[in-house]
Amino acid sequence: MNRRQALTTVAASATTVVATGHAAAARPEPVQMSLALEDYAQPWKTPDPNVANRMNVARVPDDYFMPGRFAGKTVLVTGCARGMGKAAAVRLAREGANVVGVDILEQLGAKTIAEIAAAGHRATFVAGDISKDSVCAEMVRVCVTQCGGLDAALNNAGVTDALGPDEAIDYLRQRDRVMAPLHLAGDAYWQRVMDVNATGTFYSMRHEIRQMLAQNRGGAIVNVASVAGLVGFGGTSAYVASKHAVNGLTRSAAIDYAPFGIRINSVNMHTTETPMFDRGREILAQRSATGYKDTGIGLAKIFNLLQYSDERKRGSTAAEQAAVMLFLLSPESSYITGATYQTDGGFVTI
Ligand SMILES: NC(=O)c1ccc[n+]([C@@H]2O[C@H](COP(=O)([O-])OP(=O)(O)OC[C@H]3O[C@@H](n4cnc5c(N)ncnc54)[C@H](O)[C@@H]3O)[C@@H](O)[C@H]2O)c1
Repeated sequence: MNRRQALTTVAASATTVVATGHAAAARPEPVQMSLALEDYAQPWKTPDPNVANRMNVARVPDDYFMPGRFAGKTVLVTGCARGMGKAAAVRLAREGANVVGVDILEQLGAKTIAEIAAAGHRATFVAGDISKDSVCAEMVRVCVTQCGGLDAALNNAGVTDALGPDEAIDYLRQRDRVMAPLHLAGDAYWQRVMDVNATGTFYSMRHEIRQMLAQNRGGAIVNVASVAGLVGFGGTSAYVASKHAVNGLTRSAAIDYAPFGIRINSVNMHTTETPMFDRGREILAQRSATGYKDTGIGLAKIFNLLQYSDERKRGSTAAEQAAVMLFLLSPESSYITGATYQTDGGFVTI
């Protein structure tokens, strides 16, 4: 039996519980995954005249999942409406988790969770802003009342600026609320980015850990930081400070809760193709059109190793990030805690 046949057999026998928060009958998981993981890399389509045999690393398919890995587990995902949070929530549900998703974008978040539920999985949406302690209390309460507890949490919601996640970009009107070197940075930029990324992660972890301690069966937490939480970047002071805070929270909590079987890690990505990245590019383009110039040091290094090696200079996909998030959330990563994973294509290596 080859790999494809083996995994298809597993998928066909897996079961999930139908969504909406009510008890429902188990039914077979539809077999709809891609199993094309055979290749590590493929040759460049147009050979590089300077370097023979150049290869692109093959990306994990967007619909890849491991059947049954989270069966019976309840997993909380903040920032579930789109981007990496959505990719992780969808894959968690396909792997058998009861998903509780949280987002400040009420309609889009509800739509994402409804799609997961419509595919036959159990998923619940909580609308709210994770920079509020009451919202973080509520999201954990929903895990307990709807699903009987909390096994793992992906603290993914984050912002790069003080704009609403779906606010149209108009740099000239918004310059006090978007990224800027420190001497030009506005109070609103600093406050909102710190409130969501640092304080929101703190509130999320506090409620998640209290629940996990009360359950006394361990658990796993993954915080989404950034390469900006590992190294400095020019022109984005609050974001860099806030993501360093996320990694500080990760490390200190890993120490406090290892004795209780709760593992806490972070993932630190570079360019990932999501709405956040597109919005950041748009802000920089509009800023550049105003004649804005900086020293250039902040963007001295643009590509990571894999981007540089890739024919299209592609960034990471949300699915590539979700793959590592889910590994760290699952009991499979049993000997990993306090780690700040570089999921950055080698950005901070060079
Ligand atoms: N995309 C990248 O290149 C990149 C790089 C490094 C780190 N990150 C981090 O990855 C995480 C996910 O980013 P993404 O690229 O998927 O972004 P995204 O903007 O596409 O998705 C983020 C989600 O979080 C939600 N959200 C934002 N603020 C919230 C709040 N206060 N309360 C509840 N929900 C909120 C948004 O509505 C959105 O659905 C973020 O923490 C981000 O800082 C992204």
